[in-house]
Amino acid sequence: MCGIVGIVGKSHAEQVIINGLHRLEYRGYDSAGLFVSDGKQEHLIKSQGRIKNLQEKVTSEVNGTIGIGHTRWATHGKPAEENAHPHTSQDGKLELVHNGVIENFEELAEKYLANETFYGQTDTEIVVNLIASFMKNEGLTTKEAFQKALTVIRGSYAFALINNEEPDTIYVAKNKSPLLIGLGSDFNVIASDALAVLDQTHEFVEIADNELVTVTADKVTIENQDGEIVHRDSYQAQLDASDIEKGTYPFYMLKEIDEQPTVMRKLTQEYRDEYGNVNIDSQLVNEVAASDRIYIIACGTSYNAGWAAKSLIESVTQIPVEVQLSSEFGYNMPLLSEKPFFIFLTQSGETADSRQVLVQTNQLGFPSLTITNVAGSTLSREAKYTLLLHAGPEIAVASTKAYTAQIAMLAILTQAVGELKNSEASLSFDAFHELSIIATGMEAMVDEKDYLSNLVKQYLSTTRNAFYIGRGNDYFVASEAALKLKEISYVQAEGFAAGELKHGTIALIEEGTPVLGIITEEKTGPHTRGNLKEVESRGANTIVLVTEDLARPGDQVILPKVHPLLTSLVAVIPTQLIAYYASMQRGYDVDKPRNLAKSVTVE
Ligand code: F6R
Repeated sequence: MCGIVGIVGKSHAEQVIINGLHRLEYRGYDSAGLFVSDGKQEHLIKSQGRIKNLQEKVTSEVNGTIGIGHTRWATHGKPAEENAHPHTSQDGKLELVHNGVIENFEELAEKYLANETFYGQTDTEIVVNLIASFMKNEGLTTKEAFQKALTVIRGSYAFALINNEEPDTIYVAKNKSPLLIGLGSDFNVIASDALAVLDQTHEFVEIADNELVTVTADKVTIENQDGEIVHRDSYQAQLDASDIEKGTYPFYMLKEIDEQPTVMRKLTQEYRDEYGNVNIDSQLVNEVAASDRIYIIACGTSYNAGWAAKSLIESVTQIPVEVQLSSEFGYNMPLLSEKPFFIFLTQSGETADSRQVLVQTNQLGFPSLTITNVAGSTLSREAKYTLLLHAGPEIAVASTKAYTAQIAMLAILTQAVGELKNSEASLSFDAFHELSIIATGMEAMVDEKDYLSNLVKQYLSTTRNAFYIGRGNDYFVASEAALKLKEISYVQAEGFAAGELKHGTIALIEEGTPVLGIITEEKTGPHTRGNLKEVESRGANTIVLVTEDLARPGDQVILPKVHPLLTSLVAVIPTQLIAYYASMQRGYDVDKPRNLAKSVTVE
């Protein structure tokens, strides 16, 4: 949700910022802007929409040695140019970019800025004027005024501030929203995500919540809330700039769908020791095994991944699993078991809804694990344990490889816990063996692109709505398949428990409504087929995605046979491709669907 990039100490700061913003565009693309200065001349440029619109406005006269930029996912204020960041204080001195939401901005405006008028509707504009007012009215320095503003602000933020009378310093601070400092030689950078500045540096320093950091070309000074200097070691980002290139693919999403077999193998490599055993922190495995209930907390696709793994975890570990939506769980916490263990599934590791639950479970003293694709992310730092997905950066807003990696990661953890508990089911479960069969099965599925593209042309190219149905694990894949279809193709899609359709929703079936049935289970397959017949006789166009051993003549998509509790890992692939082609054939920007952002850092 909003991306920030900044640099001090290098000429053509505007280029670094534009390149960085392109890489952060997944965080929002409602508007973008930048401020640069070379100490003599300043440039503030903003535009509505994508970074390319901003880039077009950056002419050859624009050249800075310090600057900050921002790509916006609108929260307060419509996605118009006046609300694009950076925001300028009324005295024209301060420029501020912000990622997050200031909850008490109206209160602050009333208390400190009573007679002032503002050009836009954002909370950020209030904050920049608040800092300016502390400087003017109380004679504070930029840093002191910024520090003071932080003490009265309530909410989430990553801020980067420049006073154009000090064109050698960027002041930054964060609370709940991500921000990193990147170290260069004779320059330093800041970014919401290391990916944005990998062409500049691989060396980063983390900032903790409520610290204030002063960044100049040759120095980074971190201070805590009490103004004490904090010393923190830097780390090397284990990422390569080429990981984030699209290559010959038209969209990142297609590349990421194709990468899934490799991700399965990479996870095996990362978590199997030389003797073929699971290599996961034994203390973590002990704590999970000692729990009496596992709570999986997640949102969106990650939530669907939690459901897809539930049966496997329960059957192999014999520990009951609850899967809960972060945004509900935090505010309506159910009665917890005596020894709960919390697993936070989050691709980005930054999701505010999930984080607010983690803050609470930490306060309650319960053990927690974050399963994430982003090392050093907020949820990873704040949970007791972390398992990384090693899926490589996922750039497309719609998650694909992170979903399958999450399920695979849970399968590996399940094996370790099951073995420790000596459960009967664990004796016959070998996660690495199953994942290698799955990787091969996935390869077969991603090879079906032309066939699936044609299927979409035939059944889904113009439809306004669609249903995915299934039972058991197939229902959970149906939920994910529908989410994928709606978020990138804007087809109103629902994932439904096949047996539930006839209890009301069947009323929505019309002539030509596509209903896609997923069947991977022998015991429920005939029932789902029955439900497909029911909708077919009411005019629906039915499409069957079915495991090879259960296929019947005329079934459209044949899935390879894999472990019965891991079928979601292969069944989901054609549904990802169906969503992809439904979006592409409509001419949409598959990677950047409207209204969405990849990293959702507001509650
Ligand atoms: C959909 C999608 C979202 C995310 C959700 C949680 O394709 O990606 O539904 O799954 O916003 O994000 P993370 O996993 O980063 O916590």
